[in-house]
Amino acid sequence: MIGIFYSKNTLRTAEVAKKVQEAFGEEAVDLISVEEAWKNEFDKYKYIIAGTSTWFDGELPDYWDELIPELSTLNLKGKKVAIFGLGNQAEYPDNFVDGIGLLAAALKKAGAVLTGFTSTDGYVYNKSLAEVNGMFEGLALDMDNEPDKADKKIRDWVDSLKNEFK
Ligand SMILES: Cc1cc2nc3c(=O)[nH]c(=O)nc-3n(C[C@H](O)[C@H](O)[C@H](O)COP(=O)(O)O)c2cc1C
Repeated sequence: MIGIFYSKNTLRTAEVAKKVQEAFGEEAVDLISVEEAWKNEFDKYKYIIAGTSTWFDGELPDYWDELIPELSTLNLKGKKVAIFGLGNQAEYPDNFVDGIGLLAAALKKAGAVLTGFTSTDGYVYNKSLAEVNGMFEGLALDMDNEPDKADKKIRDWVDSLKNEFK
């Protein structure tokens, strides 16, 4: 069972969360807003996907931001977690999809095993907290400048996750 966690304050992220859910097709995938999520929700799912945009020049949106201290107290030891993030490389080239990196740090602290890394090829930006060794620690989507690329990226990412989440 897979749980996709996102904040209901982030409307485009919520749309992408739905697309990710649809791309999994037959498999059981629940959408959970972090505003309503408690520890047992994170415990309940064998596999977790966390979705976030980046706001405020390199910060997490509400309510992920408020949840960060609590996230690091979760016991996600050995649990496979994948992250997707929305950002804007043209307007925020120094903080592109930083939210992915911020969530990655908190989830790793809780013991999660991150998966679903993707190549930074094709993106134009200066700096990103999401980048480690030439890869993003998740799926980066720029819905502001490249909405037309999103569907294929989501499909490919979910295909790769299907091999991981089993
Ligand atoms: C005030 C503001 C600040 C933003 N800061 C960043 C940023 O630091 N880095 C980035 O990649 N995108 C940034 N963005 C772009 C958003 O992440 C992007 O538009 C995203 O698609 C919004 O998704 P949402 O509706 O789910 O929040 C910012 C957008 C706004 C309006």
